[in-house]
Formats: sequence, C-alpha cells, structure tokens
Amino acid sequence: MVLHWKRCGRVSRRQLTTLLLTNPCEAVTKKHDDLLTDERTRGSLSLFCPPSPLAYCALTPLIPVFKFRFIHHNFKHVNPSASGTVTMESKFSPVINVYQDMYDFEDGHWWYLALRKMLLHWVKQIHPAVILDAGTGTGANLRMLHQSGYSAVGVDISDHAIQFCRERGLQQIAKASVTDLPYEPQTFDLVISMDVLPFINVSDIPTVLAEFHRCLKPHGYVVVNLAALAWLQSEHDVAWDTKKRYRKAEVERVLQDAGFYIVKSTYRIFLLFPFIVLIKWLTNIQRLSDHTSETRGDTNKTSPLLNWIFSGVMEVEFFLNRFVNFPIGSSVFVVAQKRP
Ligand SMILES: C[S@@+](CC[C@H](N)C(=O)[O-])C[C@H]1O[C@@H](n2cnc3c(N)ncnc32)[C@H](O)[C@@H]1O
Repeated sequence: MVLHWKRCGRVSRRQLTTLLLTNPCEAVTKKHDDLLTDERTRGSLSLFCPPSPLAYCALTPLIPVFKFRFIHHNFKHVNPSASGTVTMESKFSPVINVYQDMYDFEDGHWWYLALRKMLLHWVKQIHPAVILDAGTGTGANLRMLHQSGYSAVGVDISDHAIQFCRERGLQQIAKASVTDLPYEPQTFDLVISMDVLPFINVSDIPTVLAEFHRCLKPHGYVVVNLAALAWLQSEHDVAWDTKKRYRKAEVERVLQDAGFYIVKSTYRIFLLFPFIVLIKWLTNIQRLSDHTSETRGDTNKTSPLLNWIFSGVMEVEFFLNRFVNFPIGSSVFVVAQKRP
C-alpha cells in the first residue's frame, strides 16, 4: 500500500495521522468501498497529499472521527522513504480468516446457536417443502435444515464459503449472487437469508428482495436476520465488509416495498444488548491505540464461561421473544410472506 507524500524525511505517526485526517477526504471516501472489497485480495492504494501541512492542520477539526478510525483500523505500518513515498501495510487479514473463524466457531458460539434456534423455530412454523439458504456461508444453517429433515439448497458468492460447505459434506451449494439467483420462478416455499443483506450494496437491496420474491411460490415466506443499528459498527463490520447496519423499520419497509407482508419483526440480542454495546465500544477504543493486530470478526473472542452464560441468557430471550417483539438489539429478525 503506497501513499505519496510530498515531504521527504522521517514521518512520525502523529504527522501521518494529521496528514491522513486532513488529507484529501474525497480520496479516502472514494476509495473506501474499493479498499474494503479489493484491498484484502489485491492491496494497492495511492493517496495524493497536498503539500502544505498548515492546510492539513487548519482542516483537522472538520474531519469526521470515523476517518481517523478508518485509517487506524486498516493500516499498521509506516515506512517512509527518502523519495517521498510512505509505505503502509494493510491490517486486513486475508478474507479467508473471517470464513475460517465462522467455520471454527459457529457450531458452539452462543450467537450462532441462538440464531439457529430462532431460525429452526420459524422454519417449523412455516413447514416448507423446499428451502433456499441465500448466502449460506460455511454451511451450519444448511446442515441444521438437512439434519431436521428439510429439503434445502444454498447459494453463496464466495469460493471460500463453498469450500467450507464442502468440508462439512454439503453438496447442494451453488456459487451465485443473491442479486441473480439461478432458479426458476416459484421454486421455493421459504428463502432464508441470515446476515447477508448487510453485505449487499444498499442500492442492490431491492434487486435481491425481488429475486427472493420471484423464486418463492405464492404465499411463500422469507426469513432474514441482519446486523442492526449503524452506531453499533465495530471491527467485526470492517472484517466482514458490512455495507450497512439496519433499523427494524427500514427492513420492514424494504420488504413491504418488495411485495411481502410482515409476519414477525423484532430486534434480537436484547437482554445482552448493554454488554454488546460495551464490548463493541471497548473494542473500538482498543483498536484506536493498538494498530498492530489483525482486523477480525467478533466471534473468535468469547471465553467458554461467557459463552455458557450468554447461551443461557439467549435461551431466556428466545422464550420471551415468542410473545413480545423487542424494541432494541444488535440484530433485526424479520419473517415476511409473499403477497400473491
Ligand atoms: C456473515 S456471513 C453469513 C453466512 C450464513 N448465512 C450464516 O448465517 O452463517 C455472510 C455470507 O453472505 C455471503 N454473501 C455476501 N454477498 C453475497 C451475494 N451478493 N450473494 C451471495 N452471497 C453473498 C458471504 O460470502 C458470506 O458467506
């Protein structure tokens, strides 16, 4: 990763921070999406910095905090050369790490266990003959559906995800994007999409939901789970390249616009919400000072004792959630039915 710097000589971290905070914000903003999607695999960024440090200092207070965070999240090493080029290493772990973490932890981690329990509860209510798992990931949901006796197929856009699914012995997987599903109209009774929509560009969400609608039989169902609340953004979202965290009302609206009735709509991770907020904020603060460690998802961090306690709390939440919809939480869970 290369940053062109007009001044020669040694560049301190402080100088660099000032530079990056004030430097061509459009460049950072414009490159943001490319960085998150491409940098992990290709890794090249050139930022042109205006020559006047005074101009940077004057602008500093105007620069939003998230850019400071963005830089510190994503760059770890500065190696200025006399030629005026500053070399920076990306902090991104190879993208396979997030899939490896998911594959390693989803069998026993409280977060995945609770989601699968909620999902299976609703699948049993809907009682579908054929299910599509749209954005299968490393396959734990699909495997659960098979083990519970359902006929289900999966699609994912990632070769890593498909590889991990194969390692689980799952064969009914296709490589495809949820924006262009390779199925005939009215093929499925149920489409599930667990934590996939947050990774889709917001402008593509109507296309994805139109695809779900097209592939569903009349009166078919869709069940979605999404990361909630933009202000909860953390390292996990950087690692996974989250495009947007949603509010419940936003999810309901896009589903209704796409031709669905809302059957159930609730926030999840309600009882543990204060802990989640605290942990995310502490992690964010830690990331500001620690600029050497890798950017990883959240699910590789829970101790066995906490995992056991949180699993118990989620059992209570699952019970309560059958009777009430929670007003806040770190996920949104919605069940909707296709309007004929
Ligand atoms: C956080 S993982 C969730 C995986 C799985 N649904 C689960 O609940 O464990 C998100 C998955 O969505 C997949 N994905 C992202 N964009 C996609 C797209 N446009 N089409 C299909 N899959 C996509 C990613 O490859 C990843 O496997």
